[in-house]
Amino acid sequence: MNPNSMAEDLKTRVKDFWQANPCGAKFAEEGIGSREFFAHVERHRYETEWHIPEVVGFDRWRDKDVLEVGCGLGTDGVRFARAGARYTGIDLTERSIELVRRRFEYEGLAAELRAADAEALPFADSSFDLVYSHGVLHHTPDTEKAINEVHRVLRPGGTAMVMLYHRRSYNYYVNIMTLRRLGVRLLRFDWGPRFVHKLTGEDEARLSELQRAYRRDPAALLDRNEFLNQNTDGAGNPLARAYSRREALEMFSRFNATRAEVHFLNKRWIPLIGNLMPRAVERRLARVAGWHLWIIARK
Ligand SMILES: C[S@@+](CC[C@H](N)C(=O)[O-])C[C@H]1O[C@@H](n2cnc3c(N)ncnc32)[C@H](O)[C@@H]1O
Repeated sequence: MNPNSMAEDLKTRVKDFWQANPCGAKFAEEGIGSREFFAHVERHRYETEWHIPEVVGFDRWRDKDVLEVGCGLGTDGVRFARAGARYTGIDLTERSIELVRRRFEYEGLAAELRAADAEALPFADSSFDLVYSHGVLHHTPDTEKAINEVHRVLRPGGTAMVMLYHRRSYNYYVNIMTLRRLGVRLLRFDWGPRFVHKLTGEDEARLSELQRAYRRDPAALLDRNEFLNQNTDGAGNPLARAYSRREALEMFSRFNATRAEVHFLNKRWIPLIGNLMPRAVERRLARVAGWHLWIIARK
């Protein structure tokens, strides 16, 4: 297969994965797309990712043109719209756009919503004051192309806020590359998924999927890139990458006033003491070894 058709094939697999697994839906049990479902997703998001409103400052974007790239279930999107921003949301999957449309309708909020690709944004140059993208561009085959698109559609002086996964983090080195790599070896046994579920609270169906992948080809699953793909947003995810601050800042070198901030230490990933940790300690540790690397930059 030539490189172009390989990239296209990967993009199709990325799209199929997110179409089947709308991001964040696993955190709510109510019927997907119901009011209760969205309320639950929203509660869960800001309980665990309480730093998001602090970093974004939704109220600051009142009367501004905001584009969200990869809007998922629209949880941050409704916050922008409630705060009075003129909100546009795009996502690779029609499923996400349908759900977000419904969500905005429930609240009587206006938005422009479209299925589109971050690597080829369907907007004119210099159209937005803020381009926001949370946990998306590390899942697209050509991340740099998508970052160039963010730059192109921003107005001069406009702001980019992009969250990418952070490699120099507790989650990458300790949770994924050490604890999970040890744990996955237990999946060779029939009782593996149940046992690991009891030990960690990890979803049993997800563990059974990992068990199938492990039994098919253990070496392929344990390859570091593939292991990362399978251990961030659910088994079957074809692509996830993680960056150091320096690598991420380099990709944004054509922007000005670029800075990196690190946030988010999911307490669920820290066995035994995670849930006992006071917020102040969580905040300080997250600043150093958090999983979410935010690049904030000006055009
Ligand atoms: C981990 S979810 C994040 C969703 C949302 N931003 C959030 O923080 O909850 C990743 C989202 O990125 C979307 N996505 C992946 N590749 C994309 C691309 N090339 N263009 C647009 N959206 C993309 C997926 O469809 C999915 O909705």
